[in-house]
Amino acid sequence: MSRSLISISDLTDAEIEKILDLSKVFAEVNSREIPKVPALKGKTVATLFFENSTRTRLSFELAASRLSADVITFSVAGSSVAKGESLRDTAETIESLGADLIVMRHPSSGSVKLVSEWLRVPMVNAGDGAFQHPTQGLLDAVTLIEHFKSENNLNGVRIGIIGDVIHSRVARSNIQLMSRLGAEVVLVGPPAFLPSDISAWPVKVSYSLDEVLPELDVLYLLRIQSERFSDAVLPSLADFSSSYLLSRDRLKRARKDAVVMHPGPVIRGVEIAHEIVDSERSLIRRQVENGVPVRMAVLYWLLAANEGKLDPAW
Ligand code: NCD
Repeated sequence: MSRSLISISDLTDAEIEKILDLSKVFAEVNSREIPKVPALKGKTVATLFFENSTRTRLSFELAASRLSADVITFSVAGSSVAKGESLRDTAETIESLGADLIVMRHPSSGSVKLVSEWLRVPMVNAGDGAFQHPTQGLLDAVTLIEHFKSENNLNGVRIGIIGDVIHSRVARSNIQLMSRLGAEVVLVGPPAFLPSDISAWPVKVSYSLDEVLPELDVLYLLRIQSERFSDAVLPSLADFSSSYLLSRDRLKRARKDAVVMHPGPVIRGVEIAHEIVDSERSLIRRQVENGVPVRMAVLYWLLAANEGKLDPAW
């Protein structure tokens, strides 16, 4: 079993700093006319996705190919999982094919950790159930550090994570990472979408977006992740939107310099008004752009750190 990245809590403060620094190195690589370096030439990165994805999967694959690694991709549709192959057999097959690192997404919380215990190669959790999505947290941190022009910290920044927090792995990774970087995190949503006991969470809670809005520097919206709950926990979508949709009117009542974030996919008109997504207050496109250098940093850090060499020599 090698060093893997399953959760933000796997990382020491020094390791977080290292990954943030490496992201800057790889952002420069990405800005070149030919955005490619031979850092992982000869390595094979596999993406093993048991759940849908657009930006996470594509940015991991782009990150691996910009580091000159070979990339093999697996999706459930068209695989032997459809014939009844077990998770363990599937993962071991990918390892036997020669993958040096596996990026995995799965609908069950804890599944990536479980697989990492069966395998020898390092793994990166690209989202497991409602548990963790550490590279999303890292790319969001990079986006905010860049926006606030701070030195690898978010000291004093007030971040509201708004909407369906309870079903969100993005929220869990962001709460841990942002608070460790010095931010104050407020969870905002209806009781059905917030944890009932926050005593172990480094956060405050509010049921009223209108009340906390004027205090927030960052409005981080979440999609209602209905694939993760079976019962109708909400009275109606219209009720949700009337209290929590970030509308143009609500944004007018926020701080003049407050910025808007969302991990995607965005459901325009439910959690955020159509025109705000593309407005100058929105960092949503920047989050996607930062996904590539951050994932290059994570892949490089895991593969090179496991071999004892860490300084990019290009
Ligand atoms: C998120 C996810 O899959 O957890 N998306 C992403 O990775 N950018 C959030 C979501 O699905 O709503």
